[in-house]
Amino acid sequence: MKPTIALTKGRLEKQFLAFLQSKGYDIAPLTDKGRKLQIETDDFFAVFAKGVDVATYVEHGIADLGIVGEDILLEFEPDVYDLLPLPFGKCRLAIAGEPEGPRSFGKQRIATKFPNITTKYFRERGKSVDIVKLEGSVELAPLLGLADNIVDIVETGNTLKENGLVVKEEMMSISARCIANRNSLKLKKSVLAPLIDSFRIEEAAI
Ligand code: PRP
Ligand code: MG
Repeated sequence: MKPTIALTKGRLEKQFLAFLQSKGYDIAPLTDKGRKLQIETDDFFAVFAKGVDVATYVEHGIADLGIVGEDILLEFEPDVYDLLPLPFGKCRLAIAGEPEGPRSFGKQRIATKFPNITTKYFRERGKSVDIVKLEGSVELAPLLGLADNIVDIVETGNTLKENGLVVKEEMMSISARCIANRNSLKLKKSVLAPLIDSFRIEEAAI
């Protein structure tokens, strides 16, 4: 029986497809999918979802494997097996803001899509911050006075630059990861092994 892989739509999707192609897979059915969310290839069934939902489908065993950003694993801590780092989706989590950010007295206010990562990061450094949870375009928050700084993903740095913001502190480097459902790993080992092995990369390339 073919395995099911849940793929994160958007930026990671394109990078994963290029990675699959480099490993010799025929990606034509996945690139020509139009608005379809489920595709069958010669090697697996693919379903396309938002990052956090990829983790949910894998956690519930609907998908055997998932391709997801490490930020999702850190923020939501899904009960999945974190199998492998992948050589794409490389970016940084950073604290960013206006170059001459507001000199706020008292607690700093941070806007972010990642309240759990942010709270933990500051707590580990003995600081407490107020979090404003946003769903996207987080860079607007310091510009419009909603927050002092942001915690967000920085990939090329273009979004920060074009909005006049700068990195104030690098928090961590992250990449895409291949995750697996815990039962699938045991029960479908023979069908998953070739796929997983083909995703494995030299440690040096990570
Ligand atoms: C992500 C992230 C940053 C930007 C980083 O946003 O939240 O805003 O990309 O990439 P860059 O450094 O290459 O500019 P995304 O485009 O996914 O949109 P969203 O924040 O509105 O969800
Ligand atoms: Mg953004």
